[in-house]
Amino acid sequence: MAGIYFHFPFCRQACHYCNFHFSTQLKYQDEMLKAFEKEIELRADELTVELESIYFGGGSPSLLCPKSVEHMISVVIKKFKSHENIEITIEVNPDDVSYDYLKALKSSGINRVSIGIQSFSDADLRLMNRIHNADQGMKTLDWTVQLFNNFSIDLIYGTPSNDLFSWKNNLNQALSFDVPHLSSYVLTVEPKTVLAHKVTNKEVRLLDDELVRIQYDWMVDTMEEAGYENYEFSNFSKPGFNSVNNANYWKGKAYMGIGPAAHSFDGKRKRSWNISNNIKYLKSIQQGILPAQFENLNTHEAFNEYLMTALRTTWGVSLQKINQTFGGHYSNYLEKQVESHLIDQRLYWDGDTLKVSKSAKFLTDGIASDLFLLKN
Ligand SMILES: C[S@@+](CC[C@H](N)C(=O)[O-])C[C@H]1O[C@@H](n2cnc3c(N)ncnc32)[C@H](O)[C@@H]1O
Ligand code: SF4
Repeated sequence: MAGIYFHFPFCRQACHYCNFHFSTQLKYQDEMLKAFEKEIELRADELTVELESIYFGGGSPSLLCPKSVEHMISVVIKKFKSHENIEITIEVNPDDVSYDYLKALKSSGINRVSIGIQSFSDADLRLMNRIHNADQGMKTLDWTVQLFNNFSIDLIYGTPSNDLFSWKNNLNQALSFDVPHLSSYVLTVEPKTVLAHKVTNKEVRLLDDELVRIQYDWMVDTMEEAGYENYEFSNFSKPGFNSVNNANYWKGKAYMGIGPAAHSFDGKRKRSWNISNNIKYLKSIQQGILPAQFENLNTHEAFNEYLMTALRTTWGVSLQKINQTFGGHYSNYLEKQVESHLIDQRLYWDGDTLKVSKSAKFLTDGIASDLFLLKN
């Protein structure tokens, strides 16, 4: 099983924290869609397994008209074998949508919507330089609830204007809409963003790590009590509403990323990523040349990557899988390396699967890097 990801690299306005690849020059959108089709043509042989998900991400794919979305879906479905219950998701920004737009997306074949709510607090949204306000976020959710049974929202915690009280309010608002899925993001200061500049100039003061950890732990407890599974470090779903697209990444399945800056993985060892420049991407595709770089992970890179992703998930790190995929040397190494974490009760074995204890969840990435194999 596999997935296709489209990176639509345009946004109306730059959020102050974001360094994803996007342009606020909106003029090459039609050319971009044509290039997406051509890239699919050029790479048609790469995906031989059945497609389980199509994902329109960005940037802001909710700038697209529903007819264009429908057309891209039909291009994919014609080209590749796809599962009868294929998940087709689009990310939407609250400022881009109306009830009629969402309804038209549904008619175009979209069966899952991921809404960039970010926060229900206007103070947070202003600090982030989002175009939308809290009221638009709520309206988008109202419409989505009426139209889609499968949807997700993004919320950011750890923002300087977001104390525990307002974070609790954010989550309670989300729960009041009975959202089937939540993707949470800790505010990260990315280089070359306005946020980074403001932090350096002391215009913005970040929250203490301890406060951020308290927000995270509170979220995990609250969501679990409300019946959600914390199936990946930052992701929560009601039963039956895991994101197929996201779960594919974490389970190491193949995905094909179309568009500038999009990444791809063959499900084994080969990764590639397209150039992060709209004009260069368009020119290259028009000439029939894939503007991509490639790498082949060696065994210990693949082992480290498996640890990093699997430890963040509810499925954990399987010793049997390590034995089969990487060999006995790697499973023996892991068993030795986890000892101190088992004593500290940060990790535990569930059968032959290694998992992170609830109390140590916030430390997952640090624990994973401590388990990394640095040399062959
Ligand atoms: C790249 S955006 C694309 C979706 C859509 N344009 C939007 O903004 O909702 C995907 C998610 O990444 C998150 N994100 C991007 N940069 C981030 C940062 N520096 N810190 C925390 N979250 C970030 C936002 O929460 C956003 O919802
Ligand atoms: S967070 Fe979304 S809307 Fe904001 S700049 Fe990034 S991609 Fe664009």
